[in-house]
Amino acid sequence: MQILILAGGKGTRLRPLTLHTPKPIVPIANRAFIYYQLDLLRPLNVDGTLEVLLSLSYQPRKIEETLTHEELGGITIRPIVEPHPLGTAGAMRNIRSRVTGTLVVFNGDILTDIDLRPLLDRHRARRAAATLVLVNVADPSAYGVVELDAEQRIRQFYEKPAPGVTSASSINAGIYLLEPEVIDLIPDGREYSFEYDLFPRLLASGLALYGEVTNAYWLDIGTPERYRQANADVLHGRLRRYPPESSPSLTADGSLVDAEATLKSGVSVIRSVVGANCYLEDGVSVVDSVVLAGSRIAEGSRLSSSIVGRGVHIGSHCVLRDAIVGDKSVVTDFSRLG
Ligand code: GDD
Ligand code: MG
Repeated sequence: MQILILAGGKGTRLRPLTLHTPKPIVPIANRAFIYYQLDLLRPLNVDGTLEVLLSLSYQPRKIEETLTHEELGGITIRPIVEPHPLGTAGAMRNIRSRVTGTLVVFNGDILTDIDLRPLLDRHRARRAAATLVLVNVADPSAYGVVELDAEQRIRQFYEKPAPGVTSASSINAGIYLLEPEVIDLIPDGREYSFEYDLFPRLLASGLALYGEVTNAYWLDIGTPERYRQANADVLHGRLRRYPPESSPSLTADGSLVDAEATLKSGVSVIRSVVGANCYLEDGVSVVDSVVLAGSRIAEGSRLSSSIVGRGVHIGSHCVLRDAIVGDKSVVTDFSRLG
């Protein structure tokens, strides 16, 4: 079984968090994001032949260095660095010579607990060329919207449609089951997008394209709001795979505080994540926020709905609300951000 994780994007909407940390390895609940995707894929490794192709472009070495052998648990990972960003479909074309059968493609920023096995069975039973996993969301405008017919065949695809273009609410979940003939439609060696280039071509090709709507937990972690949401959802057991009781370090206030963080007197941490080697001085309060490793928050500062990168120094008596602070920044005493 072969999986391709598209992990080469620049993570622009998550800046400044992604300036020094590519999106596939930003920490969610103090663990690099890519491990959640590998957890999901591990059950597919029934015969020990699971191969995960990792297509990289933006800061590839950091991703390669993060993947440690113990955490991989028997999965073969093959990083493939693109000569230049090839786009979502170009990345698939780039690995064509390695593909031996049905390929499962994953956007590298999808947090989900979907079970892929029944989808693979149906994909094969129907002899589909491509099956797109779909999910219903309240506001589809930030995604690729897919219209199906009564047989679940894909009729139309609209990437990030303007208001009024379609009334469909099923969106492309960024998980595709593809046969090699689909990859053959992609031109070699140039930037090519799945959403804008390949999909229209696929619709015109007459190949059998199906959509499968899932009710599983699903979230694209690629904006600050959704990044915080992902942390909260993992903490609170909204993914079946990570029930809260599996995290003994969760505090009574629903927070995850790394064992190597120091909390001085009167500190309150509520529904938040605090990373290793953080130092929170007297009276600091952190609510609905994520504070990454090695950051220091001086006395009396209050954070809510905020994200603090690695190695940040926040001075005393600051107020951060809906703020996002990049790695190694210094925020002076009495600042108000957000
Ligand atoms: N290897 C490689 N090379 N990967 C890339 C490249 C590239 O040039 N460009 C983007 N990617 C990766 C990103 O790292 C990400 O994991 C994935 O492709 C999707 O890119 P995003 O930038 O996150 O796209 P999006 O979220 O706006 O939209 C996509 O995902 C939605 C679901 O979350 C589209 O596929 C939408 O149709 C879909 O609904
Ligand atoms: Mg995305």
